[in-house]
Amino acid sequence: MNTVLSVNELSISFGGLKAVDNISFNVSEKDIFGVIGPNGAGKTTVFNMISGFYKPDSGNVIFGEVDITKKKTHQVIKYGLTRTFQNVELFKHMTVMDNLLVGNHINASYGILSSMFMLPKVSKIENKQKEKAIEVLKFLGLENYASSLVFNLPYGIQKLVELGRALISEPKVLLLDEPAAGMNDTETKMLGDRIKNIRDKFGITVLLVEHDMNLVMNICDRIAVMNFGKKIAEGIPKEIQSNPMVIEAYLGEEV
Ligand SMILES: Nc1ncnc2c1ncn2[C@@H]1O[C@H](COP(=O)(O)OP(=O)(O)OP(=O)(O)O)[C@@H](O)[C@H]1O
Ligand SMILES: [Mg+2]
Repeated sequence: MNTVLSVNELSISFGGLKAVDNISFNVSEKDIFGVIGPNGAGKTTVFNMISGFYKPDSGNVIFGEVDITKKKTHQVIKYGLTRTFQNVELFKHMTVMDNLLVGNHINASYGILSSMFMLPKVSKIENKQKEKAIEVLKFLGLENYASSLVFNLPYGIQKLVELGRALISEPKVLLLDEPAAGMNDTETKMLGDRIKNIRDKFGITVLLVEHDMNLVMNICDRIAVMNFGKKIAEGIPKEIQSNPMVIEAYLGEEV
């Protein structure tokens, strides 16, 4: 299996707190790789370091052949790694379509001047972007929301819009931070099918942080488990479900 993303001995502290402590894992191409663990375990912080939002105190992140540890977020996106946020980060007073088009602006290759004068090249590119956005909306079952303002939409739909915005940048690797939060069981099941489709149809590798254990166990090929900043287990879902350290970390919760 080809490793597409390699996380090596990442650590970061905030004040006295070691939020992430020597975390390593390799993600194979086209895998759905889960990162789970109790609240405060350090999952989002790992995502923040992979995606360039935080610089680790030590360790590195290799994406393909490139060391992206010290790259800025927009550079990381250009290399082909995109994320969604635990708390929806959309332009709430813009339409769903415009939120997707904003997500795609980094792929547009025209200058500010030509866009001011709406030169033919620009409108052509813009039409293409719109077509692409419509494709993504259809794929996510959101086509009827294209002109809705985001703040009017239920939270579960907003999470899907954010997924759409991430998809439109055509990532090689997609990091999803709790995509099912705020969704009911039916919505979560549909989300699971869509995440699988994202991998199967587009060949995108997915990293998934999620508390919904049904979703994680159903769709992940491999899972790393964190507790208090450390990795306490890694394996296929079956191994994780029966791992005593994992059960202990989730004491009382059903894994
Ligand atoms: N910017 C920051 N400044 C200070 N502390 C932080 C910062 N970011 C995260 N932390 C702390 O690091 C620890 C890990 O947080 P993180 O958000 O990564 O956990 P998590 O596993 O994503 O939890 P949850 O499942 O609740 O989202 C927590 O104790 C958190 O308070
Ligand atoms: Mg988190």
